[in-house]
Amino acid sequence: MLIAIEGIDGSGKSTIANYLKEELEKEGFRVVVFKEPTNSIYGQKIRQSFNNRLDAHKELELFLLDRKHDVEKNILPALKKGYIIVMDRYYYSTIAYQGARGIDIDKIKKMNEKIAPKPDLVIILDVKPEIGIRRIKERGDKPNKFEDLEYLEKVRKIFLELKDDNIVIVDANKNIEFVKNEVLRAIKKFLKFKDTQNSHQA
Ligand code: TYD
Repeated sequence: MLIAIEGIDGSGKSTIANYLKEELEKEGFRVVVFKEPTNSIYGQKIRQSFNNRLDAHKELELFLLDRKHDVEKNILPALKKGYIIVMDRYYYSTIAYQGARGIDIDKIKKMNEKIAPKPDLVIILDVKPEIGIRRIKERGDKPNKFEDLEYLEKVRKIFLELKDDNIVIVDANKNIEFVKNEVLRAIKKFLKFKDTQNSHQA
């Protein structure tokens, strides 16, 4: 099973991904968290561009190369071994962030779905950009060129307009305990749904 945690910068993705891993492990599942961009050569090039952004198409190309590498090296092998995979960002980030730079959203989606398995569940942590940026500053980081208020407004808008059966939007403006509960509820509902589907098939 593949779960993607998505949202703008400062929405709490890493905290939630690690929390989910702990909770699902308590239920007896084997869980692994993967984070994108990765530390591949492509991911390193992406990080080098954080304060001096590349041309939008070049940037998209790097995210796709990094993802392809992640799929082949990490995601597919872990799926084969029966792990639940929790992605701390996945291709919905490409749709929203590179889409916000003017690249066609459907085109980005199609390019990704050619190389990357579609997640069973996507949790979008929705936060106002002001709050996200405040959290980044509170944790002692200096916002980079991706973390600009106006840009993140556009990114957030695309996240909120995404529509698919596998997408759940969670209000992440509230405190982290509230968000943890909401996410856990969404996952449990989904697992129950899978369970009834499986028992119908059996
Ligand atoms: P982030 O999760 O903030 O990584 P780190 O904690 O290492 O800074 O991701 C870095 C930035 O990359 C973030 O602002 C979102 C952006 N991004 C894209 O623009 N497209 C993508 O496909 C992905 C995965 C991330």
